[in-house]
Amino acid sequence: MSKMNKRIRAQGALLLAMINVPALAATLPESSVEKHMGVATCASSQCHGSAIPRDGTGVLQNEYVTWTQSDPHSKAYEILSNEQSRLIASRLGIGRAREADVCLDCHADNVAPDKRGDKFQLSDGVGCEACHGGAENWLSTHYKAPEVTHQANLQAGLYANEDAVDRANLCLSCHLGTRDKFATHKIMAAGHPRLVFELDTFTELWRTAGRQPHYRVDADYRERKDIDGHVYTWAAGLLAEARRRLDLIQSHYFDVPGMFPELAFYDCHACHRTMKTVQWRSLPRHGGVGPGTPFINDGTFVMSLALARAIEPGETEGLINALKRIHRASITSVDAIREAATELDSILARMGSRLTPARLRGREAKILEEILATGAEGNYLDYVSAEQAFMAVQTLVIELDDPILEAELDLLADSLNNDERYRPSEFRRLLSALQEED
Ligand code: HEC
Ligand code: HEC
Ligand code: HEC
Ligand code: HEC
Repeated sequence: MSKMNKRIRAQGALLLAMINVPALAATLPESSVEKHMGVATCASSQCHGSAIPRDGTGVLQNEYVTWTQSDPHSKAYEILSNEQSRLIASRLGIGRAREADVCLDCHADNVAPDKRGDKFQLSDGVGCEACHGGAENWLSTHYKAPEVTHQANLQAGLYANEDAVDRANLCLSCHLGTRDKFATHKIMAAGHPRLVFELDTFTELWRTAGRQPHYRVDADYRERKDIDGHVYTWAAGLLAEARRRLDLIQSHYFDVPGMFPELAFYDCHACHRTMKTVQWRSLPRHGGVGPGTPFINDGTFVMSLALARAIEPGETEGLINALKRIHRASITSVDAIREAATELDSILARMGSRLTPARLRGREAKILEEILATGAEGNYLDYVSAEQAFMAVQTLVIELDDPILEAELDLLADSLNNDERYRPSEFRRLLSALQEED
C-alpha cells in the first residue's frame, strides 16, 4: 500500500515543553456553531489563492492551489461519483453516493443547511473549513496580526490544528469515525477501503503530498505556534486513536442487531487471509484464548503497551491484564467486552493526562527499543499491529536521524505491501535486524 512507502524526511521539529492540560475535547469543525463560508471565500489571490508561495507573511498563501492540485481532500466529493462509489452505493441500496449523508459525512463538509454561507458548496469536498472550522466570525479579521492574535482567532472558532490532540480528533473523525459517522463492515464489504491511521505519518504524507507543502514548519511557524514534535505527535495521536476505538465500542455502532457485534472493530485479517498457512500462536496478551477466535483490532492498544514500557512502566502490567480481559471477553459477551474496554480506557486516559513533549524528550531511542522488543515477543503477528508498529518505527527512526536504521525502513515497508499475504515471521526477522543495529 502506498502509505507504507518511506516518507520524505520531515524538517526536524523542536520539542517545545507544553503542559498538556486534559480538557474537554474541542468542538469539531463539523459541529461548529459558526457558519462555513465556503472554499471560494479563502481562494482569492490576495488570500490563499496565490499561484506561487509568498514570502514575508508567514503563511504560504498558495494553500488553495496546493489543495486543489494535490490534496486528496479536494477530491473527496468527486470520488463519490466514480465507478467504485457507484458500486458501493448500489450494493448498499442507498441511491447516489454523492447524495447520501452516510458518504457525505466523511467525503464533504456536510454541515447542517443553516450553517452554510452563500458561497458554500458541498462539491468542494473536504474543504478549508472542514478542518479549520467555520469562518463566519474570523474570516474578515484572522490575518490582521499582531492586532488580532492567534488566541483571538481560536476564540472566534478557528480550530487548533497545531495541537496534536485536537488535530488527532479532527483527522480521526473521518479516518476512524465518531458516534455519528462510521464506515461499517457492511460499507467495507460493499467495496470501501479498510481505514488505517497514524497521526504523525498521515500528517506528513498529507502535508507534503504536492509540489508545495500545505504549510511549512519553519522558524517563523514555530515562533507563532507551540508545536509538538513528531514523537509527541505520534504518542498523542496513538492514545487518541486507541481511546476513540474504545469509545466507539461503547456506542451503538458496536452492538448491531444480529449474531455478531460490528465486524469493523475486529482485526479484518482474522477472517480475511489465506488458509494455506497457519499463523495462530498463543500470545500472552490474548489471555489464553485458543485458535479460531476473531480478536478486536488492537493495533493501537499494542503500541500503547510499547509506549508504556518505555515511559510508564508502572502501567505495563495493568495494560496487559486489560488486554487479556478484552480478548477473553470476545468469547463471552458484548457486555463483557464493554466492561473490559472501560478498564482499558481508564489506563490510557491516565497515560494521556501525563503525556507531554517534555516527558518524551531524550527517550526516543528507548521507545524504539521497546517497540522492537514488543515485536520480538511475537506481538506483531497480526497485520494491523505490524502496520502500526511500522509507522511508529518510521517516525522514531526519522527523528533519531540514523542513516543505518533509515536504510532498513524500505525492507520493512516492502514486507507489508500485501496485507493478505503478510508473513509475520519475515516482519519479525526484519525487526530483529533493526534491533541489533539499534
Ligand atoms: C467514517 C468516514 C467515512 C465514511 C462514512 C465513508 N468514507 Fe469513504 N473514505 C473515508 C476515508 C478516510 C478514505 C480514505 C482512506 C485511506 O486512503 O486511508 C475513504 C476512501 C474512499 C474511497 C477510495 C478513494 C480512493 O481515492 O481510492 C471511496 C471510493 C469511498 N471512500 C467511497 C465512499 C462511499 C461511497 C461512502 C458511503 C457509502 C463512504 N466512502 C463512506 C472515510 C469515509
Ligand atoms: C485535512 C485538513 C485540512 C484542510 C482540508 C485544509 N487545512 Fe490548512 N491546515 C491543516 C493543518 C493540520 C495545518 C497545520 C496546523 C496549523 O498550523 O493550523 C494547516 C495549516 C494551514 C495554514 C498555515 C497556518 C499557519 O499558522 O502557518 C494555512 C494558511 C492553511 N492551513 C490554510 C488552508 C486553506 C486556505 C485551506 C483550503 C484551501 C486549507 N488550509 C485546507 C489542515 C487542513
Ligand atoms: C471530513 C473528513 C476528513 C477529515 C477531517 C480528514 N480527512 Fe483525510 N481523507 C478523507 C477522505 C474522504 C479521504 C479520501 C479522499 C480521496 O481519496 O480522494 C482522505 C484522504 C487522506 C489521505 C490520503 C490517504 C491515502 O491513502 O493516500 C491522507 C494522508 C489524509 N487524508 C490525512 C488526513 C489528516 C492528516 C487529517 C487531519 C489533519 C485528515 N486527513 C482529516 C476525509 C477526511
Ligand atoms: C469475524 C470475521 C470477519 C471480520 C473480522 C471481518 N470480516 Fe469482512 N467478511 C466476513 C464475512 C463472513 C463476509 C461475507 C463473505 C461473503 O459474502 O462470502 C465478509 C465480507 C467482506 C468483504 C466482501 C468480500 C466479497 O468477496 O464479497 C470485504 C471487502 C470485507 N469483508 C472487508 C473486511 C474488512 C475491511 C474488515 C476489517 C475492518 C473485515 N472485513 C472484517 C467476515 C469478517
